[in-house]
Amino acid sequence: MAIQHAYAKVSGVLENVTLQDIVEDALRMQGEILAHHNIKLLRDYGQAPPILVDRHKVLQILFNLLQNAKHACDKSNTSEKNIMVRIRARDNQQMAVCVLDNGMGIATEDLARIFSQGFSTRKDGHGFGLHSSLLMAQDMGGTLKAFSAGLGLGATFTLELPLTPKARSVQPGGQQNPPDCQLPFPPTSPADLCLPQKPT
Ligand SMILES: Nc1ncnc2c1ncn2[C@@H]1O[C@H](COP(=O)(O)OP(=O)(O)OP(=O)(O)O)[C@@H](O)[C@H]1O
Ligand SMILES: [Mg+2]
Repeated sequence: MAIQHAYAKVSGVLENVTLQDIVEDALRMQGEILAHHNIKLLRDYGQAPPILVDRHKVLQILFNLLQNAKHACDKSNTSEKNIMVRIRARDNQQMAVCVLDNGMGIATEDLARIFSQGFSTRKDGHGFGLHSSLLMAQDMGGTLKAFSAGLGLGATFTLELPLTPKARSVQPGGQQNPPDCQLPFPPTSPADLCLPQKPT
């Protein structure tokens, strides 16, 4: 695929790009598939300053998250299947991308182990996508977090990245990010979970 080929060429190189650009590339790779699976795709992009990042790594993470969200929607009985991609500035040093779905959700006891290599609930799954995505996020000085209110209640994956690799060194390991409740995601309401809303 042309986009994958272009990314393969620049792997390992830091580029100044907006997360929106990378998200759009990931959606170009998955968007048609989502439509075929009767999944509605929603975009919620906030103000997104450019970020100095290895776009190949970010693309791979988003690709994995979108693929998982698609599988989760396939497994759900919900009539209106939604995946939303949300981009937000966390503060003046961090950006975040959320992939929200209203699919099969994650059991509370599984939340702690979904990032472990080999953990999969899919017949043909390898349990490698989230594990490698977490390693790539950490390698970029970022984090990858999962949230689900439980089985049947959808899931949200939040990738946080420093605006520049320098932000990583001024925030050494162990220092906490701002509490998530200060921001509209990870989701705290059905709207944030991307669940079908009554028309207003
Ligand atoms: N959006 C989601 N909703 C519900 N469960 C999820 C979601 N994303 C991941 N999971 C759970 O986490 C498990 C691990 O995901 P991961 O991407 O690591 O592996 P996989 O999708 O099973 O296989 P692969 O290695 O091919 O990606 C999945 O099998 C699924 O149980
Ligand atoms: Mg996967």
